[in-house]
Amino acid sequence: MNGKVALITGASSGIGSATAKMLAQNGVSVGLFARREERLTALAKDIESEGGSALVLKGDITKREDVANAVAQITHSWQHIDILVNNAGLMPLSFIKNLHIDEWDKMVDVNIKGVLYMTAAVLPYMLKQCSGHIVNISSVAGRRVFPAGAVYCATKYAVRAFSDGLRAELTAENKIRITTIEPGIVKTELADSITDMEIKGQFAERTVSMRQLQSGDIARSILYAVTQPDYVDVAEILVIPTDQGT
Ligand SMILES: NC(=O)c1ccc[n+]([C@@H]2O[C@H](COP(=O)([O-])OP(=O)(O)OC[C@H]3O[C@@H](n4cnc5c(N)ncnc54)[C@H](OP(=O)(O)O)[C@@H]3O)[C@@H](O)[C@H]2O)c1
Repeated sequence: MNGKVALITGASSGIGSATAKMLAQNGVSVGLFARREERLTALAKDIESEGGSALVLKGDITKREDVANAVAQITHSWQHIDILVNNAGLMPLSFIKNLHIDEWDKMVDVNIKGVLYMTAAVLPYMLKQCSGHIVNISSVAGRRVFPAGAVYCATKYAVRAFSDGLRAELTAENKIRITTIEPGIVKTELADSITDMEIKGQFAERTVSMRQLQSGDIARSILYAVTQPDYVDVAEILVIPTDQGT
């Protein structure tokens, strides 16, 4: 992996942060994209203290100019881009009847449009190189729908559909590999955005009785996918806690 360059969105916490650290430990130069700059700066320092290379890319994934700037900074610093991890996401679960429409909007903007914008920004470089690997973080929620998860699940189904479309158009033809990662419940800050008190309590109850995955468990899955030989495309990985069952 030495000499490879990766851009990781949502690198300021959870799965994104753990993935950036693990890729850097394996010789990858990492661009760290998110809004909370102080978190990214601390992570970059941590990576550099271990001998890795990191670039802080402060930005909002829903703003196309921020996305374009981040990719421009990466290519200016390192000239190429080999791996994109589309990880930034929100999960303000709510029951449809409670009409949290502003939260539906945010999920569509970050979870779907953010993935589209960042993919569009890196694609010209990958097409020119005739190589690249895009890793999209969907979810077990991209495979089945549960109460209070209708909109979140819709966004994660969309990520899976978009990944399949990218693979159909770009993998054989342009040698750009596409991997969809589908985690079950991972202990991160993701559920902090839930404001619908009806589901917040139920969700907390469910997760407290379970040994949840750690962010590093998902980072290892991503590392597995991106370290396969060029002729191997790991299309999908579904990883769930043993206690979750389905
Ligand atoms: N945890 C789970 O159980 C689980 C399960 C399946 C799938 N996933 C998926 O895994 C991904 C990572 O989630 P996580 O669990 O690691 O949660 P997390 O710790 O809350 O991380 C979410 C990341 O997304 C970033 N983000 C949110 N809105 C953004 C915006 N507008 N612009 C740029 N970055 C933004 C956040 O950074 P800033 O706030 O600093 O911008 C943060 O770094 C998500 O796509 C999530 O849907 C998680």
